[in-house]
Amino acid sequence: MSPSAAARPAQADAAPAPIGLFDLNRQQARLRHDIDRRIAQVMDHGQFVLGPEVSELEAQIAEFSGVKHAIGVSSGRDALIMALMAADIGRGDAVLVPAFTFSATAAVVIAVGAVPVFVDVASDTFNMDPAALEASIASASRSGLNAKAVMPVDLFGRPADYGPISTIAAAHGLIVVADAAQSFGGAVGERKVGNLAPISCASFYPTKPLGAFGDGGAVLTDDDGLADAVRQIRTHGRAGDGDEAMRIGMTGRLDTIQAAVLLSKLSVFKAELHRRAEVAALYDERLAGAADVPLTDDDVRSAWALYTIRVEERDRVRATLSEQGIGTGLFYRVALHHHPAFAEFLTGSETLPVAERLAASVLSLPMGPDITDDEVHRVCDALLATL
Ligand SMILES: Cc1ncc(COP(=O)(O)O)c(C=O)c1O
Repeated sequence: MSPSAAARPAQADAAPAPIGLFDLNRQQARLRHDIDRRIAQVMDHGQFVLGPEVSELEAQIAEFSGVKHAIGVSSGRDALIMALMAADIGRGDAVLVPAFTFSATAAVVIAVGAVPVFVDVASDTFNMDPAALEASIASASRSGLNAKAVMPVDLFGRPADYGPISTIAAAHGLIVVADAAQSFGGAVGERKVGNLAPISCASFYPTKPLGAFGDGGAVLTDDDGLADAVRQIRTHGRAGDGDEAMRIGMTGRLDTIQAAVLLSKLSVFKAELHRRAEVAALYDERLAGAADVPLTDDDVRSAWALYTIRVEERDRVRATLSEQGIGTGLFYRVALHHHPAFAEFLTGSETLPVAERLAASVLSLPMGPDITDDEVHRVCDALLATL
C-alpha cells in the first residue's frame, strides 16, 4: 500500500451505498435459515402441489384477515380472474375499474370476456373516487354496457373507499371484487383487507408486502359458494378428487414451496408492517410541506407496499436521485385508458383528469421493512435538495 493511500481515511472517497427502491436481500438474510428448513421439509415430503404447507398457510391467512376462506392461488392476476369467473362475470358484462392502477386490473376483466370501464381516482388517496364511480356507471349504461361488478384497487397498500363504493355498488346491483394485490396487511378500523369486500384478491409477488420467492396469490372471502367455485376453478374445474370438470377451470394453485416461504414470512409479517408504517411516518415528517405526501388518517391502515409522493418536475427529480444511487419507481407512468391494449375498449366518453395528472407526477421512494432510518434521511436530504 502506498503511503498516501495509507494516510487516507478508509471511507473518504467511497460513494455511499446505493439505496434500492426495494431491498429483498436483507429480509432474505434475516429469514434464510428458517426458509431453508421449510423448503427442505417440502422436498422431503414431496407434495409439491397442494401440500400441507398450502393448507397451513390458507388457515393462517384466513385467521390473519378475519375471513372464513383463504384460497392459495398462482398469482394476483389469477386470483382476480378466478374471482371474476366464480362471480359469473364474462361475455357481455362490464366491470368498473380505476384508471390509475397496474395494467392487470383491466387485463383480467378482458381475459374473462368482459369489458373494463375506467373510473377516475381521487388525488389524495390514489384510489377509485366514489363520486366518479356514479358517473362512470351512468356512462357505461349510456353506451349500452351491462355493468356487473366494480373492482376497486387498494393502491400502494391503502384500502380503497369501500364504504361509499359498496353503497353505490348495492344500489346498482354490482358485486365488489377487491383488487387487494398491494394491500394484504392493511385495514380499515378493525376490518382487515380481505374482509372489506365480498371477495378480495391478494398478490404475493416478491415485492409485495407479503412476498413469495416467485408468483403467488390468494382469494379471500366469507362466501362458501364463491370459495367452492374458486377451489374448483384453480384445479381445472374439478370438485374434490373427481375427474369431471364441473366448470371451466385452470391451473391456478399456489405451489407448496411458495407456501413454505410465505409461512416463514408471515411469522414476522406484523413486525414488518409496523416497520413499514414507521418508515412512512419518518418520510411524512421530513417531506410534508415540501412535497405532496400520501394521505394518512387514523382509521385507514395502509400496508405501505409503496410510499408515493407527488412532485412537480418528477422526471428531473428522479434523475437527480438516481445520480446519487437512490432508486425510485414510477407507478404508474401511463393511465390505463392510454395503454394500447385497452384502446379498443374505450367508449370515447372517458374524462379521467386526475388519473392523468397522477401519472405525470407520482414518484415512489425506497420502502420496506429493512430500510434504516439513516437511509430514509439520506433519501429525504437528497430529495429536499432537488425541490
Ligand atoms: C393492482 C395490481 N393488480 C394486480 C396485480 C397482479 O398481481 P401478480 O403480479 O401477482 O399477478 C398487481 C401486481 O403487480 C397489482 O399491483
